[in-house]
Amino acid sequence: MILVTGGAGFIGGNFVLDWLSDAATEGIINLDKLTYAGNLETLDSLKNDSRHIFVHGDIGDKELVSKLLQEYKPRAIVNFAAESHVDRSIHGPAEFVQTNIVGTFNLLECAREYWNSLEGVAKDKFRFHHVSTDEVYGSLTVTDPAFTEKNAYEPNSPYSASKAASDHLVRAWFHTYGFPVVTTNCSNNYGPYHFPEKLIPLVILNALNGKPLPIYGDGQQVRDWLYVGDHCSAIRKVLEAGKLGETYNIGGWNEKANIEVVNAICRILDELKPRVDGKSYAEQITYVKDRPGHDRRYAIDASKVERELGWRPTETFDTGVRKTVQWYLDNPVWIEGVVSGSYRDWLQKQYN
Ligand code: NAD
Ligand code: DAU
Repeated sequence: MILVTGGAGFIGGNFVLDWLSDAATEGIINLDKLTYAGNLETLDSLKNDSRHIFVHGDIGDKELVSKLLQEYKPRAIVNFAAESHVDRSIHGPAEFVQTNIVGTFNLLECAREYWNSLEGVAKDKFRFHHVSTDEVYGSLTVTDPAFTEKNAYEPNSPYSASKAASDHLVRAWFHTYGFPVVTTNCSNNYGPYHFPEKLIPLVILNALNGKPLPIYGDGQQVRDWLYVGDHCSAIRKVLEAGKLGETYNIGGWNEKANIEVVNAICRILDELKPRVDGKSYAEQITYVKDRPGHDRRYAIDASKVERELGWRPTETFDTGVRKTVQWYLDNPVWIEGVVSGSYRDWLQKQYN
């Protein structure tokens, strides 16, 4: 078995589905706190799959995590569990410190104790894979080279600071205790099951609902976009062949300004589901107040993982974003399930 944390969230959910889509693979214990971002409907297709064991709980719960490790004896842990939304971290950083830092610390300590109890091949083969972000490297100018694994950490938001802290803990557990870790730092994911607080799904749903498409500041902030299926294959590759103690940047080689992303979504929607008045969805674009401390540009140099492990993304932005828009058009039931009262409260708070 492997233990996945945060496997009811966007990337974790995609990873669990992807992993178990191979009938021959081992099972997953999926530990998730089911915060507003966790959604069991994402995992609906696994209801009758005995290889998926879902456990509702917190990575910060020492007793629970230790019990799960002793009971299921996983050969690896993949840690996705986190508070992940930058805007929410600005409104309320405490949960980010709790889960991303204290929670990761607890997970590391429980896992180290478990690993110490293993022997022989089981001990040698054990892996702790920590999923992190490119945001830990801070912000680039338009002309700076893309982030490599050698860039200094310069986090600028409560979210990225909390992720940076967790990365440092993971690193220290390797150097101090010889605990077998690998870390991946990836760029902006997008794809199916993405909670619509983030730019791409928010824009798709707002467009279809006739609402404004909010662009922070001048819309010229640049992100690198990674299709979530590509991210899952990268994690599998690093888990299988990554060198212990190493970090790997994972990116899509798809740098885009936010306004370009939003215009691309509008163009696809104009084609697939034209507005009844015949106008473009781009008419709904609305410039709003900028995010405080908004990082200008992220760009990932993903050549190390390609050179050393032979991984490269398969989707371009054009193919990935088209699949994503189509997925949201085809899955109204999933969408209905996530746009609850608490989601509407968040939109009210953030966009007034
Ligand atoms: P998400 O917010 O969609 O999902 C997070 C999941 O973790 C949810 O299911 C939530 O219920 C669970 N969770 C939160 N706190 C928990 C706790 N204390 N114990 C157990 N479970 C808990 O996040 P995501 O976008 O899927 O991101 C997954 C990971 O990837 C995070 O670590 C994030 O920092 C990292 N990451 C995300 C992106 C991205 O573009 N989404 C990019 C780079 C890195
Ligand atoms: O870079 C990796 C990070 O990508 C992950 O670590 C985070 O977990 C993930 O949430 C994401 O962070 P961003 O802040 O880049 O993603 P978000 O979708 O919130 O915003 C993308 C860009 O779009 C960012 O420049 C802010 C802008 N934006 C966002 C929203 C929600 C808008 O212009 N309007 C919006 O309404």
